[in-house]
Amino acid sequence: MLSTKVQTKLCTPKQAVRLSKAVTPLFQASIAGYPAGIRVGLLASIQHGGSSRAFSTTPVANFREFFPSKETEHIRQTPPAWPHHGFTEEEMLSVVPSHRSPKTWGDWAAWKFVRSCRWGMDFFTGMGKEQKVDKTNPTTAVETIKPLTEGQWLLRFLFLESIAGVPGMVAGMLRHLHSIRRLKRDNGWIETLLEESYNERMHLLTFMKMCEPGWFMKLLLIGAQGVYFNGLFLTYLISPKITHRFVGYLEEEAVHTYTMAIKQIDEGHLPKWSDPKFAVPDIAIQYWDMPKDKRTMKDLILYIRADEACHRGVNHTLSNLNQKEDPNPFVSLYKGGQSPPRPALKAEGYEREEVM
Ligand SMILES: [Fe+2]
Ligand SMILES: [Fe+2]
Repeated sequence: MLSTKVQTKLCTPKQAVRLSKAVTPLFQASIAGYPAGIRVGLLASIQHGGSSRAFSTTPVANFREFFPSKETEHIRQTPPAWPHHGFTEEEMLSVVPSHRSPKTWGDWAAWKFVRSCRWGMDFFTGMGKEQKVDKTNPTTAVETIKPLTEGQWLLRFLFLESIAGVPGMVAGMLRHLHSIRRLKRDNGWIETLLEESYNERMHLLTFMKMCEPGWFMKLLLIGAQGVYFNGLFLTYLISPKITHRFVGYLEEEAVHTYTMAIKQIDEGHLPKWSDPKFAVPDIAIQYWDMPKDKRTMKDLILYIRADEACHRGVNHTLSNLNQKEDPNPFVSLYKGGQSPPRPALKAEGYEREEVM
């Protein structure tokens, strides 16, 4: 398989200066000509009779394939263990950025913590002042003076997805341990939480097919995961309610980020992704079962944004429930044939009395 590759310089000059100040001299050495140890390439695959072929502005040998599929003697294919439940086009197009106003001090603390994470992400993705939205409505405003580049977007997606896969796993693990330790039923929370982290990992794997993180980025990911996993482990033991609220707010950020990217694609600011020759990775086509005529970068981001909207609705709802007794409404069968709640379009989550 040949791969199509367009390398783009990841860092803006301003970002490069910031990054080189932020890292030790060890990482000031450039890697393959990219400053400060971050190297992201954009991979645009062109399908040629079932195989991908590449055009490249740099030698193909520089691009290391992440997660290559392994050939074995007997296995033909390993499909996703948790198949995606799918969305209608109408559902995907109806997702909008939203914000649930904090109602308790715990909500407020979770919201403020997410604000500080967003500041960090803006900083590390080298976002200029003119690329930011109105500060007073950070999760709903979408107008900016200047668009981000494809490289900046990918860097943001990578950051977001690498940490987004952690909370569901921590929460699912702790509820699982609680259940087998206290000999109590969990009532359907564990599967939803683990499936959420699986879904986030699929987002990450998809974006990893489009870019190649450098040293600095990999170090950030390792450091962030170490801090984040342990932090979530403790906060979930202390207050699962606040932790679910925190994840709800984090997912508001994710919906906002992907909405902005879709808007900038629509406005023609991201030509590499609007190029008709650009094809999304096979892993994404398989996971979301993307129809043949709906495989552009915008289509892919619409799927991912709808997933994030589900996580947003699910986590805000879970935060509203009694953590010890209430069943998971999203996998429950209701009396009188009532259908279970649909979290994707319920941005602020369901209140307890609506679903119990
Ligand atoms: Fe995600
Ligand atoms: Fe998410």
